[in-house]
Amino acid sequence: MVGAGCRDVLLTGGAGYIGAHCAALLASEGYRVTVFDNLERGYRQAIQRASMVSGKPIELIVGDVRDMESLRGAFAQGDFHAVVHLAALKSVEESIQEPERYQHTNVMGTENLCAAMEEFGVFRLVFSSSAAVYGDCGSDLATESTPLRPLSPYGQSKVDAEERIERFVSRTGAAAVSLRYFNPVGAHPSASLGECSDGPTNLIPVVMDVVLGNRRSLDVFGRDYPTRDGTCIRDYIHIMDLVVAHRSALDHTTHMDGAKAYNVGTGRGSSVLEVVDRAREVTQRVVPTRDAARRDGDPVMLVADVSRIEADLGWVATQDLKSMIRSEWAWRRAWPDGYASSRETSAAPR
Ligand code: WQD
Repeated sequence: MVGAGCRDVLLTGGAGYIGAHCAALLASEGYRVTVFDNLERGYRQAIQRASMVSGKPIELIVGDVRDMESLRGAFAQGDFHAVVHLAALKSVEESIQEPERYQHTNVMGTENLCAAMEEFGVFRLVFSSSAAVYGDCGSDLATESTPLRPLSPYGQSKVDAEERIERFVSRTGAAAVSLRYFNPVGAHPSASLGECSDGPTNLIPVVMDVVLGNRRSLDVFGRDYPTRDGTCIRDYIHIMDLVVAHRSALDHTTHMDGAKAYNVGTGRGSSVLEVVDRAREVTQRVVPTRDAARRDGDPVMLVADVSRIEADLGWVATQDLKSMIRSEWAWRRAWPDGYASSRETSAAPR
């Protein structure tokens, strides 16, 4: 239930994949959720569906974390107890082509948010960080003390954003939790919320495109890695486990101080070929694959040590890979076009 004294939550990026699932969960548990989103990558319809599945109103303020005035306008509209900050760009490939854009949105946007929080006296923050901060940690599990050596401007932007938050915390005495997501996948159990992007590049949405006939085959980026079957290993986590971690982190900010980072994963790794096999089992469809060259910036293995979040927040992942794929498959069959019909015509300023 709602943590003492943090009922009213501003959720930046709440019209996105993780944001809409987060909004639905928090609203269903009695938080009063206001979404702040520029709708550049998110969908108004995702918020409508989050409101429907939670049975609660979810307000949307259209605004941009790059624009200090629009942030001030949002804080002036509500008496927020806490912020969950998900608004960011999140493509590794895109960050390599446009590193400044990632610094501007992900780092300066976070800096703006912290300034607005300080101005309006809001001192509880949950931040959407990423395992991309670690880069390649070989065959070891990544702990929160693993050196931060990101391989992409996206990962670097998350390191920089965490540092801005630490400065905000030491300046104001705020409480902040940074959640370092491993590989979020899957969809809401209602199958009415899920990941929706034009031309996905992440493994499981691409596999679903193959199953649905939108793509002829899956390119397997490298079969010669030093792993059990030669393909990369990742820690896939169900989106619903991930958003529960956000609620646990939000509650945790009511009885902690300082800034703390937590890995959010299952602690178990799956290879690319194992994901393909589970997808074949779940969908009972063929998934043709084609061997392709390694993808730049891919670490061999990235699996979380999740002992700290379990010890401090009592959170553990509950859903396995088949459950993740089953939920993704249900979403994609129920809504083959995702939220496409609700794409906003006026994109936010670039
Ligand atoms: C997983 C594995 C690919 C597609 C990224 C970000 C991370 C997070 C999740 C935001 C890799 C292989 C993939 C394909 C393939 N994003 N693959 N063929 O790269 O681990 O993580 O997304 O927070 O920060 O870094 O996820 O799903 O793209 O790739 O072989 O068509 O699947 O090489 O080994 P990744 P992914």
